[in-house]
Amino acid sequence: MDKQTIERVKIGLVNPEIGPETIALMLTKACNLRCLYCLGGKTVSSDLASDISTEDLFRLLRDASEFKVKDINLGGFLGEPFCRKDIIDIMQEIKRLGLRGTMTTNGSFLNSEIAKFMTDCGWDIMRISLDSADASIQHILRPAINQKPYFQNIVEFLDTLQRINSKVRIILNVVISKNNFRNLPSLIEFANSYKNIEFLDVLKLMNTELSNYDDLQLNTEELKEFTSILVMLKNEKKLGYQDNWGKLEDLENGNLQNAADIEFKTSNQGDFKRCFVNYYILSIDTNGEIMKCPQYQMGMPGFNIKNTSLVTLWQDELLRFRQSLTENAPCYKKCCTILRKENELIMDNLY
Ligand SMILES: C[S@@+](CC[C@H](N)C(=O)[O-])C[C@H]1O[C@@H](n2cnc3c(N)ncnc32)[C@H](O)[C@@H]1O
Ligand code: SF4
Ligand code: SF4
Repeated sequence: MDKQTIERVKIGLVNPEIGPETIALMLTKACNLRCLYCLGGKTVSSDLASDISTEDLFRLLRDASEFKVKDINLGGFLGEPFCRKDIIDIMQEIKRLGLRGTMTTNGSFLNSEIAKFMTDCGWDIMRISLDSADASIQHILRPAINQKPYFQNIVEFLDTLQRINSKVRIILNVVISKNNFRNLPSLIEFANSYKNIEFLDVLKLMNTELSNYDDLQLNTEELKEFTSILVMLKNEKKLGYQDNWGKLEDLENGNLQNAADIEFKTSNQGDFKRCFVNYYILSIDTNGEIMKCPQYQMGMPGFNIKNTSLVTLWQDELLRFRQSLTENAPCYKKCCTILRKENELIMDNLY
């Protein structure tokens, strides 16, 4: 989070004319993979009929551009954006309107043609979910429903970006589990061979409700080994882990107790705190319904961008909801580390 976002929130708190900075759009719940750790992957249907229509999406994007939204973030929660047939048109429209585009994708649909299209349309950031530079490990953790290997599609995409000197920025999302934690050094090496790859976002396995959670999650010994791998890689420029494995000095001292969220659970901080996230990110579900926040996929029935313009929703209908969270966010104790940190940063800057 940069200073500009904080400034925008400060002004937005007293002036509803200031719209959200980012719109996070869930485009579809359909997915062609069944990743072992993704609850969505096991439950999502492949029915695209309930997804928001292209027409409604385009109207929203035009509203967003007029409302001075800066970023459109596609597909960060569930489902695979490339399962939508109109995905290329959506990306093109985002860039035509001068918005900044970020997408999270499983990478299986990527290829040389898409690399060229993204370069030509000026797409900004692509987060590719890649857990290992070893294709067989990637396919074990993130298998395709049709069992077809797709690792090579990601390589073809990255090779093309490199060859055509593309400006598209790539971030690799890496979820750490028993199957891949020892491969992090080779994945860093892989990333170092591509200049478009900015960094690896090394993510913790979340969701303790997964039935196979214990089969995937690192045990205490493995966690110790993994933190020593992180310490060994500390000078690698492309390693990114946002303190979500604990502070480096704690890891270096082997002090796992002090490393944040060691049990991989969300915070159980007791006191109710205030939340400003809905002042800079507006999250929208696949059916057009507004969601409570980027972390929880809880819709707010009645608040739907299909029936109401973005500006009306923001300025009239959602206003009290946003204000109530800045007084007391009851969900704060279940909030994830990153959003909690962002909230604390805003609070520190407000007073
Ligand atoms: C749910 S996916 C949606 C976008 C796209 N289908 C993809 O896989 O990139 C978004 C990100 O969440 C990550 N993810 C899924 N399940 C997770 C879990 N249990 N813990 C941590 N990250 C998870 C994925 O690896 C991916 O990087
Ligand atoms: S590709 Fe993404 S949405 Fe699909 S199952 Fe995997 S993590 Fe979940
Ligand atoms: S406190 Fe956290 S969980 Fe609650 S609305 Fe804010 S960001 Fe979402």
